[in-house]
Amino acid sequence: MPQFTKTLVTTALPYANGPVHLGHLAGVYLPADLYVRYKRLKGEDIIHIGGSDEHGVPITITAEKEGILPGNVVDRYHGMNLEAFRKCGISFDYYGRTTSEVHHNTAQDFFLEIEKKGIFRQKNEKQFFDRKANRFLSDRYVTGTCPICNNAEANGDQCEQCGTHLSPLELINPKSKLSDATPELRDTMHWYFPLGRFQQQLEEYVSSHEKEWRSNVVNYTRTWLKQGLNDRAITRDLSWGIKVPLETQEAVGKVLYVWFDAVLGYISFTKEWSAKQGTPDVWKEYWQDPHSRLVHFIGKDNVVFHTLMFPAILMGWNEGREVERYNLADTVPASEFMNFEGRKFSKSRNYAVYLGEFLEKFPVDTLRYSIAMNYPENKDTDFSWQDFQNRTNGELADTLGNFIKRSVDFTNARFDGVVPCDSTVEAWNTLGIDWNDALEQLDRAYEEFHFRDAAWLGMEIARAANRFLTLSEPWKMIKIDREAAAKAVALSLNLCHALSIILFPVIPETCNKIYAMLGFDGTLEDRTVRGKSLFAELVLPGLKLGHKIRETSEILFTKIEDSAIAPELAKIAGLLAEAEKRDAGVAEALLEFKPVISFDDFSKIDLRVAKVIAAEPVKKAAKLLKLQLQVGSETKQVLAGIAKHYTAEEMIGKNVVVVANLAERTLRGEVSEGMILAVEGADGKLFVVEPSGDEINGKEIQ
Ligand code: MF3
Ligand code: ZN
Repeated sequence: MPQFTKTLVTTALPYANGPVHLGHLAGVYLPADLYVRYKRLKGEDIIHIGGSDEHGVPITITAEKEGILPGNVVDRYHGMNLEAFRKCGISFDYYGRTTSEVHHNTAQDFFLEIEKKGIFRQKNEKQFFDRKANRFLSDRYVTGTCPICNNAEANGDQCEQCGTHLSPLELINPKSKLSDATPELRDTMHWYFPLGRFQQQLEEYVSSHEKEWRSNVVNYTRTWLKQGLNDRAITRDLSWGIKVPLETQEAVGKVLYVWFDAVLGYISFTKEWSAKQGTPDVWKEYWQDPHSRLVHFIGKDNVVFHTLMFPAILMGWNEGREVERYNLADTVPASEFMNFEGRKFSKSRNYAVYLGEFLEKFPVDTLRYSIAMNYPENKDTDFSWQDFQNRTNGELADTLGNFIKRSVDFTNARFDGVVPCDSTVEAWNTLGIDWNDALEQLDRAYEEFHFRDAAWLGMEIARAANRFLTLSEPWKMIKIDREAAAKAVALSLNLCHALSIILFPVIPETCNKIYAMLGFDGTLEDRTVRGKSLFAELVLPGLKLGHKIRETSEILFTKIEDSAIAPELAKIAGLLAEAEKRDAGVAEALLEFKPVISFDDFSKIDLRVAKVIAAEPVKKAAKLLKLQLQVGSETKQVLAGIAKHYTAEEMIGKNVVVVANLAERTLRGEVSEGMILAVEGADGKLFVVEPSGDEINGKEIQ
């Protein structure tokens, strides 16, 4: 294990296609900020690099919907999100954009390096092309008739009516969404990154880290490794994105796949930061010096991109190189999700609290604290207004705020605003907590990414301090024993000072206010110096006899009245009612029965019980399973769109119901001689209809 002397922290680049909400803050940006702020307090060399992910099809779709350019979309949301993060106190060292020139060059350099080594594979495939619009159509740009249910408006990737996942090539009468024209099939060539080529290296990489990695991270990664890694297309036929940097005919109209480019943004933005500092080469120390540690903060949906894809891209670059070799991530603290009032955040349903909106109503530290206390470390957690109100009022206002204000006010009222005596380390132990032990626990919590524990430990100390002040009653004691009262006050003020540092990562704005009330100029940020640990200094009392505090105190947190959260609760009730209506709407729509058919029509359908005797995936059709069915004395081959819901192994041995007299069809070059019955349950999960009974194989359904 190398001794790390530097740390590079990155945070997932949010798409510049919508405003960031509480869920993003909770999973990625706040935890990263807590970590970085803590390490800076310790005097460590650490930088936090983030930025906007400004490519990808959803951005072009937003632009088309609004009749503006993709560039306008990303300008809007980059600006909005940067401002939201600033207001949240997320202390990025740099926040870049993947549309920058430096980034385009970086991504193209990587492509060329890997291309030059002959690592990529090229594959020809057929794809729809719109002649009028003069471009290839990705799945979402094609509509047509669903081959399964005849819905005339199925999308190229999925039929909304029957839920079947489709490829545009399966649609009957395909049409281009851009021009309504019938698109033509054209050959197109794409570059693929052969992840499998790096399987062994990746296994070794993962094995060498999995002891320290969170179990969710290890599990997602292991599942992929176990399935065997496949080639991944890393180019697309689109106009918005980073051009494939080759002059050949094949490269015309092709851009890099958004994920290939996005992860490299971390490198580009470190370069940009470095140049902005006036030291254009310093970025290399963070990426290429083995003594620098790389940490990616992400949400659980991005795990394999950071534990497999990005490392493999870097391995591709590093291959055969002696110099300018990139470090791979040392750890990837991926979070679970934070829900909102018991439900998932949903941008499309507007079921979210956006950061900008939140901070117009409540102070930033109430948000940071409440989110830190609910950090989704190893399971999904929930943000509720009630919990937010309780924590703000009970913990921030009544405990912390009250303790600080009482200490400062009493010192000003009775001790001329001066620390009346030196405090001793022994005095700290009267708090009922072992001080050194508490500091060690806090350190471990931060270093091991247990941010809920870290915030909680800080508040425990505030609680102990508040209790101490209440019980020692210096305002009474001063009448009988001035010296004892002075000791209590000195200890309290020192605790205020210690708390300003301990809680700084979580509630920086408040801690700077405490720091100012204690009579210091400038901010705690100003006081952090590389190589000097403010945290280590906490083992000794920080305020000496004679230290003068500020004459005025301030109320750190005002309580949140019920009336302040009532509109928020009402808004949620409204959204939930809407959602219910919508859900009911779905049910109604489903119950709009098809036109009546005669009994004769119905009896034309031959439904039989069959047994699955063999099953296998279909190449290049991720959604299909090829099933061999035993139907009485016959066997039939059926292609079923259930591969996302059942594995081949799971299907073998099942009884199913097959439409046995359906005309044959060919899907993906394979014959299908029937259809099996299934029903869609919650969240789009398909359930195959499974009849049970003795000796029913081949029997007709009646
Ligand atoms: N934009 C992606 C998302 O929001 C995350 C990209 S992370 C990166 O899911 F590293 F690739 F940039
Ligand atoms: Zn359909």
